Amino acid sequence: MSPGQVREVRKEIQQFLLQYEFGLREIETKLSILRDEFLELRDYNPIEHISSRVKSPESLLEKVARKGVPRDLASIREHVTDIAGVRVTCSFVSDVYRLFELLTRQDDVSVRTVKDYIAEPKPNGYQSLHAVVDIPVYLSSGPVSVPVEVQFRTVAMDFWASLEHKIHYKYDGGVPDSLTEELREAAATATELDARMARLHQQIHGPRV
Ligand code: GTP
Ligand code: MG
Repeated sequence: MSPGQVREVRKEIQQFLLQYEFGLREIETKLSILRDEFLELRDYNPIEHISSRVKSPESLLEKVARKGVPRDLASIREHVTDIAGVRVTCSFVSDVYRLFELLTRQDDVSVRTVKDYIAEPKPNGYQSLHAVVDIPVYLSSGPVSVPVEVQFRTVAMDFWASLEHKIHYKYDGGVPDSLTEELREAAATATELDARMARLHQQIHGPRV
């Protein structure tokens, strides 16, 4: 490739990734509107925090290679659905499902896939509710539909997942059996804590805030 062609490709990739950045902003705005409305109407905040990221070009290329996705942008858009990712950390499991409902039932949000790892945790103990949604982004050239992966979880699930991620990373996948077992137990403890906190919360505020 000539330097000119490399510049062209780089520009094309930058524009491609920018659309995902816009998709994130749309979803973040929707979530912050829900949060602010909750605060105003019920004096209650169902969201502990929201974080988001666009996949780095390196990590995207690694995934494309690993999954055997054709290296054109249309195929990548179709098959790699976690280029834009939002993580919504809630106080309680009920808030996880409530926010999921409120976001996914909006007319301009269309749901591609849902994975409920709370109802059915992964064998290692991982819990979260994942949804891949398509959201329209209005560019000067017209609308594009952008997939965004939204992960909803509680603080306890988030605590567990970040530790598990670090351990997984440190052992490069080859986590010793004893640690794997301890992680599973820790996940059960996190579930118990969630249930306990929900009970306490209900005692104070009643069944539904
Ligand atoms: P990826 O190819 O990794 O994106 O997985 P997938 O396409 O099978 O989707 P899945 O819904 O299982 O996972 C998507 C994302 O959820 C991951 O990129 C992580 O952010 C998170 N996740 C899934 N499983 C685990 C897990 O066992 N531990 C942790 N810490 N995070 C997980
Ligand atoms: Mg992923």
